[in-house]
Amino acid sequence: MAGLQEPRRVTELSNELTRDIDTADPLGIVRRLCGSDAQLFAGWGGHPGVNDPVILDRLWKLSLKTAALLKENQDQKKNNRIVFSGCGTSGRIAWLCSWTYNRILQKFGHTPCFHYLIAGGDRSLIISNELPEDDPPKGAEDLKKVAEGADHVMFVGITCGLSAPYVAGQIDHSMHQPNMTSVLMGFNPVSLSRNAPIEKWDKTCRQVFLELETLSCTSDSAFIINPIVGPEPITGSSRMKGGSTTAVLLGTVFLTSLQTLLGQPILPSMTLPAREPEETEVVFDHSLSPSLSPMVSLLDCYSQTYQTVYRHSGGVASLLKLAASCICQPSGRLIYLGADTLGALGLVDASEMVPTYGVGLEEFRGFVAGGWEGCGNTEGDLSGYGKTFRVSLSQFESDVLPSLTDQDCVLCLHGSSQRTGPPHLHTIVNKVLASPAKCGLLVMAENGMSCNHLLDKRYETAVLIRLPYYHAFGKECVFAGFALKLVLNAISTGANILKGRVYGNEMINLRLSNDKLFERAIAIIEKWSGANEEDAKFALLRAIYKQDDAANFQYRPISSHITEASSQNMVVPLALLLAGGRSSVSYSSREKAAPVCQRSQGCHINGDRPNPWPLGHYIPIYLTTTRPNTLSL
Ligand code: F6P
Repeated sequence: MAGLQEPRRVTELSNELTRDIDTADPLGIVRRLCGSDAQLFAGWGGHPGVNDPVILDRLWKLSLKTAALLKENQDQKKNNRIVFSGCGTSGRIAWLCSWTYNRILQKFGHTPCFHYLIAGGDRSLIISNELPEDDPPKGAEDLKKVAEGADHVMFVGITCGLSAPYVAGQIDHSMHQPNMTSVLMGFNPVSLSRNAPIEKWDKTCRQVFLELETLSCTSDSAFIINPIVGPEPITGSSRMKGGSTTAVLLGTVFLTSLQTLLGQPILPSMTLPAREPEETEVVFDHSLSPSLSPMVSLLDCYSQTYQTVYRHSGGVASLLKLAASCICQPSGRLIYLGADTLGALGLVDASEMVPTYGVGLEEFRGFVAGGWEGCGNTEGDLSGYGKTFRVSLSQFESDVLPSLTDQDCVLCLHGSSQRTGPPHLHTIVNKVLASPAKCGLLVMAENGMSCNHLLDKRYETAVLIRLPYYHAFGKECVFAGFALKLVLNAISTGANILKGRVYGNEMINLRLSNDKLFERAIAIIEKWSGANEEDAKFALLRAIYKQDDAANFQYRPISSHITEASSQNMVVPLALLLAGGRSSVSYSSREKAAPVCQRSQGCHINGDRPNPWPLGHYIPIYLTTTRPNTLSL
């Protein structure tokens, strides 16, 4: 397995600040996430972070280039496009940002020119679909389609781990086009980008990204934006810090460009600096005049938003506790209801639960007022694809509301500027408050705005977070969205931790649905069983094919293991048992080993008694009625 012997990518390392997150109580979980998120702004391990002059300089140059492209659209009626692309959460952030920036352009009378691509198409906005992430030619094909007829395309390929073949295929295409600017965004040094062979392709991600890095030294058509923000709080879960960093960087660059184009301050209190004459080469010295840069001020707004969120750690922890009290029930669910981009963030948060924690599709859901209408997605109404894609409040009312029980938690997400929210949201919330479900309220409030009208005594927990910055360009909830992402990530991650789905800081029931996840599973097995890489892989194959002698399967391509494994649950926990040499496939299935979460048994939602240990808890300490503790750690 190429790639496993070398140093691991920063984004696949275990974060030392969260190693015991599985033993923490709700507040302890939130505090650990606060420490991990701080690395987003503070940097990590001596590498350049988002505030490093090297990175700021690249961001600044990129924003100037973008502003120039936007200006050509305005003055010369050119058809320049900006395309954000990524896999999983990276593609979802691409969607949310392109939607927001297009709305800003429209509001000021400009033609929208932001586009997004996500591996697997729009269905991946809601349900993770990881296999297309392994397909570079498909990435290039999707990019060619969106670039058709454009004068110039600025392509921004986002892959937090510098690991997605889909994005590598796109960068490989874009950097050889005369009318494209190629931007790679990710959070590892390029020298550590993924180097595993890619089936049916003759390059690796690293080869492509190194070529782009070389080009970026001499050309203004190539950019690498790769601040190092430290390992994820749950190892490899790039939906968290990786997704947040992506949102911060895209906002910092593209809102600055929009500000330059529109001549409008992003925030009411901001003053515009004098414009540089266009022919002048801009020498930007952050160490001398950081406060002069609107871009740096914008980055500071994100940083202050982060600080404000975690000043409400107690409130976030109580919402987490409420959500976990339902998720820890046998058929508990967590449901987010909201409007606009804040509602859409609920969809995004819920979408990664299945592959990360092996949960059912219904356990975490999001619903948004108006459904797909006005969501700025390419394929429009997706509800025909099935129940999970039915995301409007009316569909919530017909599909979910009648089945709500006291094991369900419904979390209403509000922006204070939405007043009571859209009328439909208000009506539905009233119905939910009258149901047996446990209800929580989370309000992202603009400073000085009264929110009393939103409070209702029937909420079990209501949390109000007042943000120093709220809107960008009048109405767009850019900073409220960032704040909400941090809070929802904390709630859903925390609920899964308290359910016992995390060991140490490791997702150990991940779904093996692409090559990167297959690699990650082997690394987890190696780490916790002590087996070497070869034995860990063999144990994984035994668990996938449910055969003690998996020798026949060894030489199959990884894609066929993935096809076999991707619909199965509990593959990695079983492989851990097998790799420890303390069990066999036949023994494990005969005894129906009931895996339980031992490390988190001391920290329960109510703090007074252990939760029952329902089947479905799967941490690598397995107890059976006949053979206790068969796997030592
Ligand atoms: O492969 C699945 C996944 O890990 C998602 O969980 C994640 O959002 C996505 O890949 C993106 O990863 P990256 O941005 O590193 O390419």
